[in-house]
Amino acid sequence: MKKYGVMGDPIKHSMSPLMHNDAFRRNRIEADYQLIHVKPEDLGEAVNALKAEGAGGFNVTVPHKTAIIPFLDEMDDLARTIGAVNTVVNEGGRLKGYNTDGPGFVQGIKEKLADLASKKALIIGAGGAARGIYFALVREGILQADICNRTVAKAEGLIEDCPYDCSSRAISLEEAEENLAQYDLIVQTTSAGMSPHITESPIRILTELKPSALVSDIIYNPLQTEFLKQAEAKGASTQNGIDMFVYQGALAFKLWTGIYPDTDYMREIVLQQLGGKTC
Ligand code: ATR
Repeated sequence: MKKYGVMGDPIKHSMSPLMHNDAFRRNRIEADYQLIHVKPEDLGEAVNALKAEGAGGFNVTVPHKTAIIPFLDEMDDLARTIGAVNTVVNEGGRLKGYNTDGPGFVQGIKEKLADLASKKALIIGAGGAARGIYFALVREGILQADICNRTVAKAEGLIEDCPYDCSSRAISLEEAEENLAQYDLIVQTTSAGMSPHITESPIRILTELKPSALVSDIIYNPLQTEFLKQAEAKGASTQNGIDMFVYQGALAFKLWTGIYPDTDYMREIVLQQLGGKTC
């Protein structure tokens, strides 16, 4: 039986094992996906042990997404550009790092917003999650994407680092609050609003939004953040973080098995697990 898993610290609340084990079962693949608790100081040893065992691959989560890079044999171009790995594939004894977080987010957006290239996006936040999402959106062809952040210099850094062509401005949270009406896609990537801080919101939605705007929050606990509540009250379509989680998993599954799994089942499993845990 091929071994897969997710390594992180902490890891016990990860929803990935149920989601992937269900997908393996549905696709009649003999495999087992486990939680792998790895402390930062044990990372190299844990990676080498999985390689020696002939594991098919694994996911990587906080705090190892960047630290794992020196222990891999190869890197996919996008993962190298982002500087973070969430999926590792054992390709004939060589471990190759990929990033399916940003592309997973884009996949979820494409299901809800047609003709991405013509749209104007605003990304809220400039941390690791924003970096993957911004680079993946621009690589997908979006031509205008501004970034707002509490610390504007970090948004400027992200724009400078991006190797793909895009017209982008780094702006303050206040400037974003006043100019939300110009965006077709607004993506909330900060931890503000995540349980237990559910009353927080990085920006307030003060202006009217475009009626066709899609407002996305990568948080899924709670399922509807304060930010999404405000967006919904302004009449926008909203999307929570379940889609990004499901599609990053689906893209990882495809890299390991060559099969793109049924994302409706994956979403159902995740929602079942979250039931009771969200507020
Ligand atoms: P991640 O990898 O999850 O993106 P991170 O790299 O620590 O985490 O980045 C966190 C992001 O959330 C940053 O953009 C941070 O803003 P600063 O760069 O100014 O620190 C943003 N953030 C966190 N808490 C916030 C809050 N309460 N209000 C607004 N922005 C917040």
